[in-house]
Order: sequence, then C-alpha cells, then structure tokens
Amino acid sequence: MQKEQTPEQNVSKPASRRGFIGASGAVTAAAALPVELSAQVAGSDQVKVGLIGMGGRGCGAIVQNLAGNDRARLVAVADAFADKIDGSGPRGSGLPAVTKQLEKLGKANQVDLPASRQYAGFDAYKQVVDESDLVCIATPPGFRPLHFEYAVNQGKHVFMEKPVCVDAFGFNKIVESAQKADDKGLKVVVGLQRHYEDVYRQAFAKVHEEGLLGDLLGGQCYWNGSRPWLIDRQEGWNEMEYQMRNWYYFTWLCGDHNVEQHVHNIDILNWFLSGDNERGCNPISAQGLGGRCTDLPLSVGEIFDHHYVEYRYGQDQNNAIVNSQSRQATGAWRHVGEEIIGTEASLTMKGAQSVIKDASGKVIWQYRKPRSGNVSPYQVEHNELHDAIANDKPLNNAYYGAKSSFSAVIGRLATYTGQIVEWDKAVESNFNLMPEELSFDAKPKVLPNADGNYTLPIPGQTKLPWA
Ligand SMILES: NC(=O)c1ccc[n+]([C@@H]2O[C@H](COP(=O)([O-])OP(=O)(O)OC[C@H]3O[C@@H](n4cnc5c(N)ncnc54)[C@H](O)[C@@H]3O)[C@@H](O)[C@H]2O)c1
Repeated sequence: MQKEQTPEQNVSKPASRRGFIGASGAVTAAAALPVELSAQVAGSDQVKVGLIGMGGRGCGAIVQNLAGNDRARLVAVADAFADKIDGSGPRGSGLPAVTKQLEKLGKANQVDLPASRQYAGFDAYKQVVDESDLVCIATPPGFRPLHFEYAVNQGKHVFMEKPVCVDAFGFNKIVESAQKADDKGLKVVVGLQRHYEDVYRQAFAKVHEEGLLGDLLGGQCYWNGSRPWLIDRQEGWNEMEYQMRNWYYFTWLCGDHNVEQHVHNIDILNWFLSGDNERGCNPISAQGLGGRCTDLPLSVGEIFDHHYVEYRYGQDQNNAIVNSQSRQATGAWRHVGEEIIGTEASLTMKGAQSVIKDASGKVIWQYRKPRSGNVSPYQVEHNELHDAIANDKPLNNAYYGAKSSFSAVIGRLATYTGQIVEWDKAVESNFNLMPEELSFDAKPKVLPNADGNYTLPIPGQTKLPWA
C-alpha cells in the first residue's frame, strides 16, 4: 500500500484573510498538530471514517466513533473554516483536541489524516464523503439535509447529530434520503442519544411492555437553561461569516433553540407516545407563545429566548396533549426533562433517573443510572452503529430524527406567528430557509437593518411561510 505524505510534506496554501477558504481546498492545519497523523493503515477490513464539522460536538463524536471500533480510521475531515480544523479560531477545538483525547484512550494510531485530506469551505463535505465508508456529520443543522443526501447518494453509512432539519424542505429531503438509505442497506444513527441510554430504554420497556402507565394521555417536556456562546462581530467579517460563526442565533442555520436543544425532549414524547422505536410519531398540530424578553440585544440574531408550545396528537387532535417549554434565560429556573402521563400512573425522566408513580403518588418503579460502569449514551450510539455495519443489522434513526426535528420546527412556527400550525400543511409547503447560494461571498436571506439590528418575529403579524 502506498504510504500517505505526512502533513509536513504536504503543505498547501494558507487560510485566507478571514480564516477560511471560500471554495473547498486542502488546508495547512495539520502542520501545527501535536501528533503524527499519518499512521500506516494496514489490512483491507478497515472502516474509513470522515468528519464534517469540527466544532465541540464533532470533535467529541469522532473520538467516540473511533473508540467504538478498533478497525475504524479517521481518514478525512472538513469544516467551513480552516481555523476550526487546526483549532486556532474562536471557540477552537479541532484536531488538537481530537488527538489529545485519542492519545488518552491509546487510540491515536486510528488516525490517518494527511493535510491533503483536511478540507475547508462550503463544498468540503463532498471530498470527505467521497473518501469515507462512514461519515460523522456535526455541522449546524441547517446543512444536515444537504450533507445527508449527498452521503446517502454516494452509498455511505452515517452518524449525524440532531436536529436533522430546520425547515420543511429539509424534513422532506431527510425522509427521502432515509428511504434511499434503506434501499441501499446503509446504517444511520442520529445523535438523539437518549434512545441509547438505559434511563430511557428501561422506562420505555416499563411503559410499552408492561403497560405500567395504562393508556397514554400526554405529558410535559422542558429544556429551560441558559444562553449559549456568542462571538463578537470582528473587523473584516462580512455578514455570512458573522452568521456562520454565530450560527446559533440564526434560524436558517440553527432552527432556534426550540429546535436545536429542545428537540431532545420533544423526541422523547414522540417516542414514548408512539411506542415505536424505529419511526416514532409526530403531533398533528402545534400552537404556542414565545418571544424575547431577556437582555439579548437585537443586534444578536433573530431567535426567541422562550417558547411554550401545546402539541396535539392523533387524528381528532385529542389523543394526547403535550406541553413543551424551552427557555434560555440565565438565572431563571433550570430544568431539562420529560414527563409522560397515563390513565394509571405517570413517568418522570430527568438526568440520571426515571420514576413511575401511581395516582396516589406511590413510587411503583424507578431506575437510577449506576455511578460507575455505565457507558455513556454518546458512546453506545457509535458502538451500535459499528455493530450494525459489521453485522448488517437494520438501523436507521433518520425517520424519528426527522419527525422530532420537524415537530420542534412547527412549535417554532407557532410561537413566531401566534397561529395554529398543522403538521400536514407545514410538510406540504416545503418551505426552505436556505440562501440560494452557499458561499462566503453570498448574502444570507436575513440581514440586519441600518442600525445593525435584526427583526424578530411578531406573533399575530409574522405570517406562516405558506400563508
Ligand atoms: N447530541 C448532543 O447532545 C449534542 C450536543 C452538542 C451539539 N449537538 C449538535 O451538534 C451540532 C454541532 O454543534 P456544536 O456544538 O459542535 O457546534 P460548533 O459550532 O462547535 O461546531 C459546528 C462546526 O461546523 C462547522 N460548519 C458550519 N457549517 C459548515 C458546513 N457547511 N460545512 C462544514 N462545516 C461547517 C463550523 O465551522 C463549526 O466548526 C449541532 O447540530 C448541535 O445541535 C448535539
């Protein structure tokens, strides 16, 4: 087998003024890396793994992926920004963080990554997909449908982070690609890791195998936490770079936090109410309240800081009702968890614990995560993905990933517009938030006004995308 060039041998052109290369191209990132990244790869049964999106989660996910299979090799990486690959940019993690973690695990030899296979730019994902058997995708969710579609078309297995879409166009693309993945026998895991966690798996069995709750009536779910990171606008950044660096605050990239974070909890309600591990279910409608009432200035993005949504399930919209809260307000009540209400009992899930209580308040079952010997669900999802690939077991989380992500999207539409949003109409509308052109020279659809402020949705005035 031909030996790859070492990063030092393959020095390509440096990153541009703004810290990224507009069109995709190999970068010099590897020259600064602390470990040798061109370990000899031997044998023909290795799984070539690629990573798209080298932020916090991508760098964690790739370590878990490699740890999940001794035969997995990281062979290609991509990020929109070159400085996210070498870790020198704002909120840098990148390859130095990955190699440090792998060294700790004694797994640094699972990396075969010359500079020629480190790509930056909007199109960089294509090279990574082309060079891999399995792709880990951890970019902002707005890009997920595009990247997933390409990976499936090229016949690659996929791990992709949640959420998987931020609009109807994205939802429809994910479902279409999921069907193609099934036709091709590809394996797909979505990073809704609660599905891979004992606290949830055991509770699910109690509800659906033993029927401890009786008939399910609905529930509550919460992601009430604090505001995420924000990077100040820097000299020389154009609007596209500002939005890409601060993707969290822009709906076309993030979906709003009701989608980005709260999808985890909405997903649990869809999963438990459906009783279906493979497909989940979706609400038939959503209506709710929301806005921005913290001191986050209007010069920062277009998202709300709180959403309260009532979801209705079932043909007559009355089979189950779920109340859903998401808030980003530092100092306010923090709570992340879910409750399912049944005719006989109720189930509360939060962090390390699940508890079922009957109508009198008596605990009839509980499970607490053991303090030691417990494998993280972030690891289990990669272990099970590798197992499914190696043994050709059916595994495709994209259907429930799409339904849960789009459930959160219709919740956002409800709070933005103040209207009742029907699932079917939203799906049929195929509304699309992506800009026509994806490049650092293109203008996003959402722009600040002359004062540098963005316009927030106004319930009652903001229209549904298809109205
Ligand atoms: N499952 C979980 O618990 C969990 C936890 C954290 C984040 N996430 C998800 O992971 C994803 C990434 O989140 P993060 O916290 O790592 O964000 P991040 O900003 O740290 O990383 C995202 C990376 O993607 C890059 N990127 C942006 N657009 C790209 C494109 N078109 N092509 C290639 N690279 C691109 C960015 O430059 C950045 O380096 C999000 O969808 C988030 O919701 C999941």
